[in-house]
Amino acid sequence: MLIDQYGRKLDYLRLSVTDRCNFRCYYCMPEEGIDFARRADLMSFDEMLQLSSVFCGLGVSKIRITGGEPFLRAGIMPFLKKLNVAGGLSEITVTSNGTLSERYQAELLQMGIRRINISLDSLTRERFAQITRRDSFESVYAGIFKLLDDGFDIKLNCVVAENKNIQDIIPFVELTRHHQLSVRFLEEMPFNGNSHKSAGVLWDHRQIYDHISAHYNEIIPMFNTVSSTSVNYRISGYKGTFGIIPSFSRTFCGTCNRIRLSATGDLRTCLYGPPVLNLRDLLRSGKPQAILEQEILAAVSRRVRDGFEAEALSGGQVSTSMSALGG
Ligand code: 5AD
Ligand code: SF4
Repeated sequence: MLIDQYGRKLDYLRLSVTDRCNFRCYYCMPEEGIDFARRADLMSFDEMLQLSSVFCGLGVSKIRITGGEPFLRAGIMPFLKKLNVAGGLSEITVTSNGTLSERYQAELLQMGIRRINISLDSLTRERFAQITRRDSFESVYAGIFKLLDDGFDIKLNCVVAENKNIQDIIPFVELTRHHQLSVRFLEEMPFNGNSHKSAGVLWDHRQIYDHISAHYNEIIPMFNTVSSTSVNYRISGYKGTFGIIPSFSRTFCGTCNRIRLSATGDLRTCLYGPPVLNLRDLLRSGKPQAILEQEILAAVSRRVRDGFEAEALSGGQVSTSMSALGG
């Protein structure tokens, strides 16, 4: 079991399979991209399978596949199939930017991967293009409905920021009127590969809530699972739900059950902290499974209390692109 010194059990691994992406969201990376990892530095899918099995042995029951854009990595589907049959996991989920999911939809369904998070920050083509620096709104948007039609459980992640997409907040909530999906509004975090200075005016979770509540008579709070990062609501009579994630305010650290592994093997016990171990290197140096387990357990035992302590450990330098961290 991975239990830290504050009694939090880590049973949810977020595994990044690539740091590459076909989008350039302003909050994630600069226009020219980041220094993407060299191929040789990326873990192979075999290495990821070995490490996943180690994590399962340590009590991890859920893996979310992230990136970059996970579907960009060649061989992703055979990997998912192997991970799926390896056993030990109660669930595999995926976070994607929605550009390629259509191609893989049928196979995902076959494997029983039904829960997909899609990044979508605007409901207009113009603002989508401004935010992602790519003109792909129509295909991403249409793709979401194809996934819904096939019975996927869809969450849309929308990073809220001044001068970017405030006009989209209410239309996003309106999307939940007739569609059974969940929209989650995220505070912007500084993980942008230094593409820009943070706007300064943070749209924090309270401000997002107040903005929404000014438009509706009745917002119904939903039951939240203990380790949920989003606080969830429903508008009375609407089919879908919405949530607000205090990703920068970090009010949820006390119940965080996540651990992250980047595509190059960096293990992080907090998104805001430095890597605490490189598992690719340990694996490549031929260390037996027992040593890997020991090292992971030791890293988890050193896990700090919250994202603020973790940020301090990083020397306040928290600008690594989300794409390299692994969302
Ligand atoms: N701030 C907030 N959210 C971010 N994401 C990526 N970078 C940032 C950031 N700097 C979100 C993406 C994606 C999820 C994995 O993280 O929108 O949906
Ligand atoms: Fe790509 Fe996601 Fe980063 Fe946007 S936020 S550039 S979609 S990895």
